[in-house]
Amino acid sequence: MSSRSAVVTGASSGIGLAVSQALREEGFALTMAARDPVKLAAAAHALAGSDGPPVHHLAGSVADEAFLDEIVAFQTQTFGSLDILVNNAGVSGHRLVGDITADFLDNQLAVNIRAVVLLTGKCLGLLKSAVRQRGSAQVVNTASNAGKRGEATLSSYSATKAAVVGFTESLHDELATSGIRATAVCPGLVDTPMADPFRDSIAASAMITPRDVAEVVRMTTRLSAACIVPEIVLLRPTEWLQPEEVRPAV
Ligand SMILES: NC(=O)c1ccc[n+]([C@@H]2O[C@H](COP(=O)([O-])OP(=O)(O)OC[C@H]3O[C@@H](n4cnc5c(N)ncnc54)[C@H](OP(=O)(O)O)[C@@H]3O)[C@@H](O)[C@H]2O)c1
Repeated sequence: MSSRSAVVTGASSGIGLAVSQALREEGFALTMAARDPVKLAAAAHALAGSDGPPVHHLAGSVADEAFLDEIVAFQTQTFGSLDILVNNAGVSGHRLVGDITADFLDNQLAVNIRAVVLLTGKCLGLLKSAVRQRGSAQVVNTASNAGKRGEATLSSYSATKAAVVGFTESLHDELATSGIRATAVCPGLVDTPMADPFRDSIAASAMITPRDVAEVVRMTTRLSAACIVPEIVLLRPTEWLQPEEVRPAV
């Protein structure tokens, strides 16, 4: 019951999988969560193949509150505490604002922000238990650069990610003195399946890698309890520049 442990949502692919791998390398036992049970089991078994802390996996949708309770119950029974919660599961989708339907919006709200708020609240007891045992705990929320600066055709997604940034700031205000450190990670375009709509115009080699994001999460786990990183923005070189602002390389 004394080893450090992590819960990572959206852990079967892309950023969540890379973060899971980095945390395991750092010695965290893992509880990996995602929807598709086959893909998740394959990812967990691949990580568990090497020597190291245990890798558990739970399949379900974070949009379903009962699944969030299942994650918390499993973590409570298996570890009795939680050192790092990584709220990473997310859904995107490109639509002009006039084409956004209630279903499209509700799914993004449920996965990208409702689950983040609810799961964090449900994990507070476990996080506080880790603080009592080991001095600190963390919540890392995967937001997006789109949550810092809204993007055309991503208005509802940008709004949910701005909400993740705001929620993380509030967490910081509410919990920092209790030893629970909150970080919002805001990456630009990352080479995962979520980047597929951009592949015709942007080469994979010009995208941020899932490993880049995992490395900044790893860094936050290595800091002293006295040091908090509330927000990290990762950008590709031309992100946030207007085309006319892009300068030739010198
Ligand atoms: N890729 C980018 O350019 C980029 C940039 C900034 C931020 N982000 C954010 O990074 C996070 C990870 O995205 P990614 O790029 O790594 O995409 P990804 O490779 O498509 O991975 C998404 C993960 O989330 C899981 N997921 C989706 N809906 C879920 C649900 N309802 N319940 C549980 N799990 C669910 C997926 O599992 P299933 O396949 O089983 O559903 C998968 O494991 C997201 O929050 C995303 O918004 C991505």
